Amino acid sequence: MEFDTVIHSGQIATADWVTSGDIGIKDGRIVAIAETLPGGERRIDAGGRIVMPGGIEAHCHIAQESSSGIMTSDDYQSGSISAAFGGNSTIIPFAAQHRGQSLDDVISTYRTRAAKSVLDYAWHLIITDPTEKVLNDELPRAIQSGITSFKVFMTYDLMNIGDGGMLDILTIARNHGAITMVHAENNDMVKWMNRQLADRDLTAPRYHAISRPELAEAEAINRAIQLAKLADAPLFVVHVSTAAGAEIVRREKFAGAKLFAETCPQYMALTREALDKPEMDGAKFICSPPVRGAETQDALWHHVSQGTFESVSSDHAPYRADETGKFLNGADVPYTKIANGMPGIAARLPWLFSEGVVAGRITLEHFVALSATNAARTFGCTKKGRIAPGCDADIAIWNPEARRKVALEDQHDNMDYTPFEGLELTGIPEVVMNRGNIIVDHGALKASSGQGRFFKRAPVDLCGRSGVTLPEFDPRQNFGTDLRS
Ligand code: URP
Ligand code: ZN
Ligand code: ZN
Repeated sequence: MEFDTVIHSGQIATADWVTSGDIGIKDGRIVAIAETLPGGERRIDAGGRIVMPGGIEAHCHIAQESSSGIMTSDDYQSGSISAAFGGNSTIIPFAAQHRGQSLDDVISTYRTRAAKSVLDYAWHLIITDPTEKVLNDELPRAIQSGITSFKVFMTYDLMNIGDGGMLDILTIARNHGAITMVHAENNDMVKWMNRQLADRDLTAPRYHAISRPELAEAEAINRAIQLAKLADAPLFVVHVSTAAGAEIVRREKFAGAKLFAETCPQYMALTREALDKPEMDGAKFICSPPVRGAETQDALWHHVSQGTFESVSSDHAPYRADETGKFLNGADVPYTKIANGMPGIAARLPWLFSEGVVAGRITLEHFVALSATNAARTFGCTKKGRIAPGCDADIAIWNPEARRKVALEDQHDNMDYTPFEGLELTGIPEVVMNRGNIIVDHGALKASSGQGRFFKRAPVDLCGRSGVTLPEFDPRQNFGTDLRS
């Protein structure tokens, strides 16, 4: 067979094994893997570097309004370019419903916004208004069209859908082969804390972290899991930021829940002291859930290395530290009026490689699983996130020894700061491909706006998890009413 491209002499890394060899690419797909492959219109010499699946960034906010209506600084062009420089071949941002909006309208809005992407993309639908029409007509049609995941919020007054709304969405997801992602923080606990702090005039950025206690996350994660178990539906807990939350996930997984989870670099790389920075600089580190203490970093690393989490995602939610973003409501406003979120789409994989693989906390195979393959499995990306014949040639070539210091001037997003400024990292993605097209080549962008494509996702693969059958769903015990039907 004649190949369009052969990547030769690489250390091919997958989620299962690492071996040296060549990869043949034809029409954007991987068609051969062998010790040596001849030919190829283009031959790329990997020179012993690591050749692995390009990352799948499955938690990022791009061209999306925040819970209070502030638009992210990145659109699909800058967001996807930044992702590519960070070793990603695929992005799955959110397409967010505003209350009263139809899902058809949401999808068509994001189709227009995403037209500039340089990488392939899909969306998770954020559901804030689960009306009868949304539940029974629009969501099933969205799933049918290949959008097989939703995100719901247990916090933020404008997004929180309540336990009943969650049960309804979980049930639709179960019945139609989708997965529900949840932002788990107890809204009333947070609002109560906000009132306590406001009564005492404690409104500086540092109080953001105090206003969202660890208990609020642990309580909500536990509740979300029980709701998912009642509905017998799969659940993905996003951005777990606490040891208590991770421990609940670990325990419930072991008990058999259809449960998936992620954490993010900021919860292991930063601590709440960052919010103390002078002159409102702490606002740059406001995100929800908030960054925690040093002991949490160690606990989350333990859970990453022991397999509690399927993925480490960025939760890239970029708002500039100016009047277009963090300070849209004023330069010196209480933390409750500052946009939540920080950038990190480019830092996620280099940070995880450096602090994970190079530091000896995880294996290279585990890195591949956490960065791409598990997201592909969990979210139904059947042709992505793997080095295997038939899969899209979404490939990254990494120099595992190159070192650099994170600096704003090297970023490609539309931001005026990086929370990871000054971190010394080892390992750089030098070449990034999407469907066989080179997107980034040794620091140079080779892609043009709009070359990424929307891809449909398959119904959710539960990775062999059978789930917990509660008495309510067991036809032998439920008083003759099979609630599944
Ligand atoms: O603070 C964050 N993470 N902002 C983005 C929205 C969300 O909650 O995921
Ligand atoms: Zn969230
Ligand atoms: Zn998020």
